[in-house]
Amino acid sequence: MMKNDVIPFLDLKAVNGQYGDEISQAIQEVLASGWYIRGEACSRFENDYRHFIGADYCVGVGNGLDALALIYRAYIEMGMIVLGDEVIVPANTFIASILALTENGLKPILVEPRMDTLEIDDCLIEQAITPKTKSLLLVHLYGRCAYTEKIGSLCKKYNLILVEDNAQAHGCQFKNEELRMKNEESACAIGSPQNHSSFLIPHSSFRTGSLGDAAGHSFYPGKNLGALGDAGAVTTNDKELAQTVRMLANYGSETKYHCQYKGRNSRLDEIQAAILDVKLKHLDEDNRRRQAIARLYYEGISHPLVALPQRLPDANNVYHLFPVFCKERDRLQEHLASKGIQTLIHYPIPPHRQPCFAEWHTLSLPVTEQIHATELSLPISPVMTDGDAQRVIAAVNGFCVV
Ligand SMILES: Cc1ncc(COP(=O)(O)O)c(C=O)c1O
Repeated sequence: MMKNDVIPFLDLKAVNGQYGDEISQAIQEVLASGWYIRGEACSRFENDYRHFIGADYCVGVGNGLDALALIYRAYIEMGMIVLGDEVIVPANTFIASILALTENGLKPILVEPRMDTLEIDDCLIEQAITPKTKSLLLVHLYGRCAYTEKIGSLCKKYNLILVEDNAQAHGCQFKNEELRMKNEESACAIGSPQNHSSFLIPHSSFRTGSLGDAAGHSFYPGKNLGALGDAGAVTTNDKELAQTVRMLANYGSETKYHCQYKGRNSRLDEIQAAILDVKLKHLDEDNRRRQAIARLYYEGISHPLVALPQRLPDANNVYHLFPVFCKERDRLQEHLASKGIQTLIHYPIPPHRQPCFAEWHTLSLPVTEQIHATELSLPISPVMTDGDAQRVIAAVNGFCVV
């Protein structure tokens, strides 16, 4: 097969090439500034990103794992969580969500996801809560909004700190349909278009990353908003939390050479911040392209042995990944490879089966295990054409199990 015939899982060179001139210019500006850590580019991106998410504060950090770990370390320093406390987390998440907890001496309580949504099953959360439960780490996996009204009320009822892992869902929204309809009704009653928009917009749609008490974001290159290296951020409306995270990420220090905490070095550098600021302007547009590819997949894939996840309104899924499920997953992957279509598995080994978590090896988490045994991610990205998507659809539908 010719190299050109291959549909890559994710062509990062092309993704970044879309904005190549703007990115080069941004890098040049940082180079010329002579200031490479904690400068203007970082402040600009932090400010732009907090506005985009809808949060009062944003702190740029080194990567997504650090963002989550620093949030929990800050809550410990603030006396809101203590060593050994329990944190509920979806059992099928990427390992970093769990490492952020264990690194802080917290106990992850693995809760099963739903097979249709792939997100934590909100009906199973309450029974996992004990007097030691202090937080829920909600992961918007695959780019889907995992937040539900029920999760919000459980956190209130049990006084749980809600932390979002927004590594895979930049730009995704939670829409409160009931509230939206109520707003629309009252706006109609008021009858003025001006009242309508000013009342409706702030209450009817919230980005993931602004739904809880704090959120960790990863800008790993393959993410919807990806840097050209490692990068991450914390967003929150809590000033004390933001200040504590900022200090912890800077050796525990606010004033140079004066250390309030035993911190670490995890800062967003100027070059990555400048690149992210360029790409942020195009993020909604990039996500719309992902949604258009997903639409084609939903409409075109019709193989009886290939299941697709529950379809959400576009606003609620930014399609970081497009997972499909097939009992013959490995053969499907081989078949697609033979047609020049690259796929990946997210993820081949669930956290409770990882060698580093031997204490969990006896746990039985059947939904998680089924997801890990049958999941296959199809290519999806802002640079794929409709023709690429049609080729993927034809190849999936042509899968023959003999
Ligand atoms: C769900 C989730 N959480 C956390 C992370 C960690 O982010 P990073 O790779 O930037 O440390 C990632 C990505 O890699 C992720 O997908």
